[in-house]
Amino acid sequence: MTLENIKLDIDYVRSQFPAFDDPLSKDWSFFENAGGSYVPQNVIDKLTEFMTSTKVQPYAEYPMSKIAGENMDKATKLFSNMINAQENEILIGGSTSINLYVLSNALKKYINPGDEIIVTNQDHEANISPWRRLEEVGARIVEWKFNLQNHELEISDLEKIISSKTKILAVTHCSNIVGSVNNLKKISEIAHRYNTIVIGDGVSYAPHGFPNIKELDVDFYTFSLYKTYGPHLALLYGKEEILKELPNQNHEFLRGNYPYTINPGGPNHEELVSLIGIHEYFDNLYKHHFNESNSSTLEKISKLNKLISDHEEVIANPVLDYLNNRKDIILIGKNKISNKDRAPTISFVSKKKTSREISEELVSNKIATRNDNFYAWRCIRDLGLDINDGVVRLSMVHYNTEHESIKILEALEKI
Ligand SMILES: Cc1ncc(COP(=O)(O)O)c(C=O)c1O
Repeated sequence: MTLENIKLDIDYVRSQFPAFDDPLSKDWSFFENAGGSYVPQNVIDKLTEFMTSTKVQPYAEYPMSKIAGENMDKATKLFSNMINAQENEILIGGSTSINLYVLSNALKKYINPGDEIIVTNQDHEANISPWRRLEEVGARIVEWKFNLQNHELEISDLEKIISSKTKILAVTHCSNIVGSVNNLKKISEIAHRYNTIVIGDGVSYAPHGFPNIKELDVDFYTFSLYKTYGPHLALLYGKEEILKELPNQNHEFLRGNYPYTINPGGPNHEELVSLIGIHEYFDNLYKHHFNESNSSTLEKISKLNKLISDHEEVIANPVLDYLNNRKDIILIGKNKISNKDRAPTISFVSKKKTSREISEELVSNKIATRNDNFYAWRCIRDLGLDINDGVVRLSMVHYNTEHESIKILEALEKI
C-alpha cells in the first residue's frame, strides 16, 4: 500500500483519548483545540507512574530517584528526536509566554540602541510583547503588517523592512486567528542574509504535525505541549551555537550548564516525564498504520504528518467552504487547505450576530468552542474587529471527525 492510500484510522485515534469516553465530555464535539488539546492514555499513564513510584528528587543513586532522572532525560531526548534537534537544544518551561519572556531577557544583552526588532501584527502577544519590551534597552520596533485583503504576511513586505540593523525577527509559523502557515524556511533564509535571529512561534503549527527544526533553520522555535496532546508545559528550541553564548539566568554556580541555565529554574518533573507518553502515542499510531517500527523517529513523524494533514483537509475544507459561501459571514484567512498551507483553525465573524452570541449558540448545540481575541489582539484590531468580542474560532486537530464537521454545519445553519 502506498502512503497515498493510507487513511487515518479515526476510531483507533479516538480510542487512545479517554476524554471521548468520559461522562462529562463524551457527548461534546470538541473544537477548542487551539486553546488546548485532550491527552492520550499514554500521557496519563506516564504521569500516574511517575507520581506513584518515582515522585522524589531525581538524579540520586537510589532506584526511585535514579529512574525519575532517567525518565526526565528520556523525555527531552525523545522530543529532540521528534523535531530533529539535539538534546542540548531543548528547554522545557511552564508555557510559551514564559519561555519567550525568559529568552528575550537573555537576548537583551545583544541589543544596542538603534538596533531594530521586527514583530508582526499577526502573532499571539506571547511572541510580540517580550520583543517590544526591548525598547527599554534602545531597540527600535518595526512592525511587519499582514495584507488586509488576504490577511497574509507577505514576504515582499518583509523584504522592504528588514536590513542589517535588524537583530531579531519574531514571527509566527501559523497564526492562531488567520490559520495560514507562514513560510518560515524562506523567512529564515532572508533573515540570515542580514544576520538576524529568527524566533518562530510554532504553537498553532505543532499540533498539526511536529516541525523539522533543522529544515526550517530558525534560530529559536517554541510550542506549547499542552496543545500537542501533553500536560501544561512548553518547549523552546534554540540553536546550540547561540544557546551556549546566552547569559546564565539560573544560580550563579551553574554557569556553563546550558541550556539548563537559560531558565531561572527547572520544569515540572512529573509533567516532563509524561511527555514520554506523547512519543509513545505517536509511535503506536505509526505502528498501527504502517505496520513496521524500524524507521527513524523523524521518518515516522514525517509520514504521520502527511496522514494527519490529509485527514485535517477532509474535516476542515467543508466547514471553510460553507463559511466562505455565506454572504453574512466573514471568514478570516484562506478558504481552503491545500498542501498544509493552512491549519484547521477557523475564525470567522457574522455580520448579523456578535461572536459571543454565535459561540453561545454553538455551545448550546454541544459544540465546544468560544469567541475571543485569543491574545492576538493586534491581529483582531487590525482586521477592524471588536477586540473584546473577537472572532468565533473552530479549531480542529486529527482526532476530530467528519461527522463532527457535519454537526458544525447543521448547527451553523440552524443559528
Ligand atoms: C500562536 C500562539 N502563540 C503563543 C501562545 C501562548 O502560549 P502559552 O499559553 O503556552 O503561553 C498561544 C496560546 O494560545 C498561541 O496560540
